[in-house]
Amino acid sequence: MKLLIDDAHIDKIKNIYEFYPVVGVTTNPTILSKIGGNPFDTLKEIREFIGEDAQLHVQAVSRRADEIVEEAWHIVETLGANTFVKIPAVPEGFKAMKILTETSEIPFTATAIYTPMQAFIAGQCGANYAAPYVNRIDNMGFNGLTVAKEIQQVFERNFMETEVIAASFKNSQQVLELCMCGVSAATLSPEIFTALVKNSAINSAVEDFISDFESFAGKDKTMLDF
Ligand code: G3P
Repeated sequence: MKLLIDDAHIDKIKNIYEFYPVVGVTTNPTILSKIGGNPFDTLKEIREFIGEDAQLHVQAVSRRADEIVEEAWHIVETLGANTFVKIPAVPEGFKAMKILTETSEIPFTATAIYTPMQAFIAGQCGANYAAPYVNRIDNMGFNGLTVAKEIQQVFERNFMETEVIAASFKNSQQVLELCMCGVSAATLSPEIFTALVKNSAINSAVEDFISDFESFAGKDKTMLDF
């Protein structure tokens, strides 16, 4: 399962990149609203930091298909290769996806996915990724993990190349559960990243090893001292 960061704060992105295996960054209009200003200033700074090979997902906000297509071109021309345009999985979005598939090589991610059928239709329209919102589905009284797994199954059983990029997590266990099902990708907030491996027993085991080493080698000594 590929891991991406669902945030636009450059400092948080840099911090997570330093410690975790990350293949890119996803944003949405709400995430960009937390930074404010010209969204392309924020996105260009992210692109510059993550490099041209990393994925950057950026949402189009127009309501009409022809305008979504125009926005998609603008986003990709401004931010370069490996920029995935996020398009809501609604009828105008499907229309835009079809146009992009027929007329361009622009990669896109179907977003705002709450049902497997949305993902199936988006996949048939040529989406590279489909993004189910796990936590938001839970909050509607359904099971977000089940929906994400069903979408994975829909793609596999219909021999579709569209990949799941699960989004909207509230804890690390949800991430693990999708990882165990072979879901292609997950985009996580920095807070969820730091919760992936967070357990005092682990830290305590590591500290015990260091203190056992120091007990015979001396304080602050490491293998480099021998
Ligand atoms: O991009 C969609 C995803 O970020 C939604 O997450 O936490 O706002 O439900 P959340």
